[in-house]
Amino acid sequence: VDHLLARAEQLDAADPLAGWRDRFVVGDPGLIYLDGNSLGRLPKATQARLSQLVDVEWGEHLIRGWHDWVDLPERVGDALGSALLGVAAGQVLVCDNTTVNLYKLALAAAKARPGRRVIVTDDDNFPTDRYVLAQLAAQQDLELRVIATPIDEGVQLDAVRAAVDHDVALVSFSHTAYRSGALAPMATIDELAHSVGALTLWDLSHSVGAVPVDLSRSDLAVGCSYKYVNGGPGAPAWLYVRRDLQTYLGNPIAGWFSQRDQFAMGPEYSPRQDVGRFLTGTPPVLGLVCVEEGVRVLAEAGLDRLRAKGIALTEFVIEVADAWLSEYGVRIATPRDPERRGSHVVLEHPQAWQLAQALTAAGVIPDYREPNRLRLGPAPVYTRFIDVHDGLSRLRTILRESSHTSFPAKAASVR
Ligand SMILES: Cc1ncc(COP(=O)(O)O)c(C=O)c1O
Repeated sequence: VDHLLARAEQLDAADPLAGWRDRFVVGDPGLIYLDGNSLGRLPKATQARLSQLVDVEWGEHLIRGWHDWVDLPERVGDALGSALLGVAAGQVLVCDNTTVNLYKLALAAAKARPGRRVIVTDDDNFPTDRYVLAQLAAQQDLELRVIATPIDEGVQLDAVRAAVDHDVALVSFSHTAYRSGALAPMATIDELAHSVGALTLWDLSHSVGAVPVDLSRSDLAVGCSYKYVNGGPGAPAWLYVRRDLQTYLGNPIAGWFSQRDQFAMGPEYSPRQDVGRFLTGTPPVLGLVCVEEGVRVLAEAGLDRLRAKGIALTEFVIEVADAWLSEYGVRIATPRDPERRGSHVVLEHPQAWQLAQALTAAGVIPDYREPNRLRLGPAPVYTRFIDVHDGLSRLRTILRESSHTSFPAKAASVR
């Protein structure tokens, strides 16, 4: 008998969020989707809202629509901040993409600490973070101090401690590591940075909507909204600037949406005195309403329940992988302590790329990351325990039959 099947059924029956799956479009009920940490599913409310926006607001209201659209970055920012980041209104904007927001805030922070020459990050930070910070440092004649992070364990406090001194302007890490799911010790890092007078900037892309964060001691944060927030492909990202820093930091991109009395079209740039100074140009209205609907669904589900289910789902992934997959050389590359991981689990195997292709062909969508990492992100709001069971059961069959070896070993360019 398959006692793990019985466990999955029990867990689904007892799941307080079980009904939330119905709020999403499930185009192919046979498809097992374990990639919610890359691109979340489409909420049904978003479908309806988008057609209303396109047909009525754009189609009929035309330019008059801007009365309702113009404050969307702040309105959706407040909703996201309150439901998913636990912060008061007036500190979050939904705008641009994560890369651009990271650049804006990192440069603003570096400029706010004149005379300090160092930005600290780590070698396992997400590529866009490393590239942006490296180029920013080069352009500003600063040093990027890159600490070494063991991929599976995540950012090490000793290394942060050794890197942080009075020459440091900014400390910037990701909270949930994209390649392992390991959580960085945010509060202690905020404390260490502040003890030398540096600012902190967090990338919460893999946390927001799945893992609660405490930003009370942090200065700045950014994140995307197309993963757990279900904002859709290319949805605008968000940024957080703590209220007391808003007039002290400057937006390096002095776009007209960050201007006080924007439509006066005045001769000189005079930035807004609130979080709005971190806007740039015209906001992407279609994407913003998608983020608004995505946030609404998660707000109703409740972040505490999402986190509890995220832990239960990842525990179950690990339990099933231990039982079925370890004999085939699959290794859990994510912290086993649920307090130390986000909402995805990484399985390492020398043929992970072939396994990812074989799984996709078998109707299970995983994610692949270098090196040799199969990444499973069972988004708490719509993933069932039975999906984990069935997905890993198909993976076991693939491994048992070695059917993945007929797929190309060389990785595709989009993976
Ligand atoms: C940690 C992290 N930062 C940033 C990004 C992407 O940034 P952008 O939306 O600018 O492409 C991702 C995307 O996966 C990410 O995982």
